Amino acid sequence: MRERSICVLGGTGFVGKQVVSRLAAQGHSVKLLTRRRERHRELLVLPGVSILETDVYDQNELTKRLVGCDAGINLVGILNERGHSGKGFRKTHVDLPLNFLRACEQHRVTRVLHMSALNADPDGPSHYLRTKGEAENQIHTLAGNRIQVTSFRPSVIFGEGDSFLNRFAALLKLTPGIFPLACADARFAPVYVGDVADFIVNALEDKSTYGQRYDLCGPHEYTLRQLVEFTAKMQGLERTVIGLPGWLSKLQASVFEFVPGKPFSLDNYNSLSRDSVCEQGITCTTSLESIAPLYLGNADRESRMQHFRTEYWAKNDKVG
Ligand SMILES: NC(=O)c1ccc[n+]([C@@H]2O[C@H](COP(=O)([O-])OP(=O)(O)OC[C@H]3O[C@@H](n4cnc5c(N)ncnc54)[C@H](OP(=O)(O)O)[C@@H]3O)[C@@H](O)[C@H]2O)c1
Repeated sequence: MRERSICVLGGTGFVGKQVVSRLAAQGHSVKLLTRRRERHRELLVLPGVSILETDVYDQNELTKRLVGCDAGINLVGILNERGHSGKGFRKTHVDLPLNFLRACEQHRVTRVLHMSALNADPDGPSHYLRTKGEAENQIHTLAGNRIQVTSFRPSVIFGEGDSFLNRFAALLKLTPGIFPLACADARFAPVYVGDVADFIVNALEDKSTYGQRYDLCGPHEYTLRQLVEFTAKMQGLERTVIGLPGWLSKLQASVFEFVPGKPFSLDNYNSLSRDSVCEQGITCTTSLESIAPLYLGNADRESRMQHFRTEYWAKNDKVG
């Protein structure tokens, strides 16, 4: 395999760390662009990885960072914006990836991997899904045949450090007895972060993925209620999950929208009106039940370490 120089946006995040560690293990040199270098110094231990503090919204600065790269990966995404108008989503999900693509074009970077989301659709029900959908379409159109783009559209992603199950885990701890749950019947096919990262990294050199968009799902579907009940069980918490009716779910979203940190927002509520499951697409094999117990609570430290050791060696055997 040819060793490449790869520029990664959003490589410091939950999915990014997994992608970057795989790229480093394959011998690629990786430039990580971040808004705050000091927060991610732990990634410097990976061979061939450099971390460059960058104002990613400054087109000149972004373009300069692409010098010498031959592939670009964009993994930036937000679930909530600071305001309520959709401007924050547009800036992060549409303007930034399009600027990244222009910067790639300027430096003749001919391979781009782009992270979108399942149900991304310019006509979608939320700012999140609309802006993800617009960006995906525009990127594939603008790239033409000068840049080979592949997009990834995962359902919710789980794994150590995820913001989905871990968020419910924290809320469950704070809520004794009855747990009121908005959108309890929304459906998901959670996909393991390791599978997503493998799929992205394998696509880099695979010409059959050029121009393609992949829906990525895990092996099983669950309602949100089932996922929350599972999370409570893994933590050894006895909770009764009560599904809120539609109007109360919306009311909860309208209130939480103004709570610091926006634990739930109207935009999240609107996104949940579409089930996050794959009609067609890639079914990744790792099950929630085989991984989530290792980070949600009850597993002891030694069995967690054993699991991650096994994963690490399996990955490095494959690479070697
Ligand atoms: N996690 C999921 O369940 C899931 C599901 C479907 C799709 N996705 C998509 O997969 C991608 C990766 O998700 P993730 O969970 O790994 O995300 P994440 O950890 O929340 O964030 C990824 C990185 O994006 C950068 N970032 C965050 N907010 C930004 C902003 N306002 N402007 C510029 N950069 C910003 C941050 O890098 P710095 O702070 O270093 O600059 C961060 O490390 C995203 O595109 C997301 O939409 C995720």
